[in-house]
Amino acid sequence: MTHDVFGQPTTVKPGPALDAWNKTQLAFLAHGAATPGFLGEALEADPDFALAHAIKGMFYTLLGRRELIQTAEEALVAARTAASGTSISVREQHFIDALDGWVSGNPRRALEHFSAIIDQASDDILAVKLDHATRFVLGDNVGMRAVLEKVMPAYKPSDRGYGYLLGCYAFALEETGEYNRAKFAGREGVLIAPDDAWGLHAVAHVHDMTADAAGGIEWLTGREHAWSHCNNFRYHVWWHKALMHLDLGQHAVALELYDSEIRQDKTDDYRDISNATSLLSRLELNGVKVGDRWEELADLSAKRTEDGCLIFADLHYLLALVGDNRQEDIKTLLGRLHRDAKSCCNDMQKAMSNPGLSAAAGLEAFGEADYEKAFTNLSSANANMQLAGGSHAQRDVFERLTIDCGIRAGYLDEAEAILANRLSSRGGNEDGYTAARRALIADGRAAAAVPSRELA
Ligand SMILES: [Fe+2]
Repeated sequence: MTHDVFGQPTTVKPGPALDAWNKTQLAFLAHGAATPGFLGEALEADPDFALAHAIKGMFYTLLGRRELIQTAEEALVAARTAASGTSISVREQHFIDALDGWVSGNPRRALEHFSAIIDQASDDILAVKLDHATRFVLGDNVGMRAVLEKVMPAYKPSDRGYGYLLGCYAFALEETGEYNRAKFAGREGVLIAPDDAWGLHAVAHVHDMTADAAGGIEWLTGREHAWSHCNNFRYHVWWHKALMHLDLGQHAVALELYDSEIRQDKTDDYRDISNATSLLSRLELNGVKVGDRWEELADLSAKRTEDGCLIFADLHYLLALVGDNRQEDIKTLLGRLHRDAKSCCNDMQKAMSNPGLSAAAGLEAFGEADYEKAFTNLSSANANMQLAGGSHAQRDVFERLTIDCGIRAGYLDEAEAILANRLSSRGGNEDGYTAARRALIADGRAAAAVPSRELA
């Protein structure tokens, strides 16, 4: 056994393979674009390194693409073959078994294996980060925070992974409403690990959730180096910045960021489609004309209607199809969603059923301007949208659509109640959206109170 950069015993060959493995982990923690390259180097230097095969498979599953599940399964086979020819550790076997949970559509089983690793070594940052990523996909913010609070005492500020750990902790605190502590942890994390885009982005989330768009822009401006090295996560950070400009009513700036950064590459990665569709949706809800920008998103999403890996991804593909009024593709996606929900039940199919079906029906009705039906379905999904995964900021597009449909359909009391709940989850901090919708609801009530004049 050798020991990696974090002190974890590992069966990787010393020398170039260990060096590449260390770089792989450090890049992964920082969401670095270089991660797969380093992982490839580790496997090239040590083709029998079972753990690297397992992590490679895990990376494929986290991309949330149906066609990559087979590639992840091949990585699982490679990991098992490598493991059979050598003596691997219990820790490494847990990572392989975690991949087995992921490829079978049961990431909750993967969590059991990460927990087993963490129980043995709280300072196993690789297991902690994968646990964090998995709970993010599952929308388990409470579990995410609990794991981090369990392991934090095992770390010292001088530990190599401490800055990245703080970044994860900041995000978990933010997602559970501890905004001040989240901001402090995130800023400290970035100080220790300046390339930790996740921690930097957790602070951006705090600014979003505390209605401090100007402060968020100030935080991100000048810190581009922290996310310019990233994989497509960098588009997500730009998306956060665009949201802040949107909240300040600076729609032209948001659109400029959309064109120059967020959709710089016209990829069909679900996270990129998510950034784009949710920003365009928000802009349109604010009455901004977005031109033909839906078209390329719908073209890409029309090819993903059979995906069904993650409901979070499916709902954003659907947003694109609704945005560009692709009736046939909308029906295809909804048909597949119903089939998946019926064939329940691995972890991912459960989410297809709930909240997926109601949310999708709501989006379809929104596209048809049937706001009553849209509101009924979206508000029904609203209570369980956490199960779709992602962050509060990401799911907020569905909440905004729900509220706007309610207002348009005349359900002012109900829309106001959802708006109040949204405000409460933001610690009572009123953002631009809340202020505008409160005014709209008040106008709606005033209009209803004025008796219409009879025609002469
Ligand atoms: Fe985010």
